[in-house]
Amino acid sequence: MRVSNLGSEAMYVCICNAITESQVRQAVEAGAEDLWDLQAATGIATGCGSCKETAADILREGRSRRRKFEPQIYVPSLA
Ligand code: FES
Repeated sequence: MRVSNLGSEAMYVCICNAITESQVRQAVEAGAEDLWDLQAATGIATGCGSCKETAADILREGRSRRRKFEPQIYVPSLA
C-alpha cells in the first residue's frame, strides 16, 4: 500500500493509539530512523501491531525524501 496515495492529513494510521499519518510524518522529519524511534516518538504500533506495515511505509518514504535534501559534503583528496 502506498501511503502517499491515501490523502488526508488527519487520517488515523494507528487506531489503538489514535496516531495520525501527520504525526508519524512529523516524527520522521524530526529524525526517526526506524520503527523503534517512531514508537518512542508517537506510540504507534505499541498495541495490536496491525499498523506496523503502514508505519514502515511512511518511514521509508520520509527517510528517502529527507536524504534528497541532506547537504552533500565534499571531501578533497589528500593525494
Ligand atoms: S492499530 Fe496501531 S497498534 Fe493497533
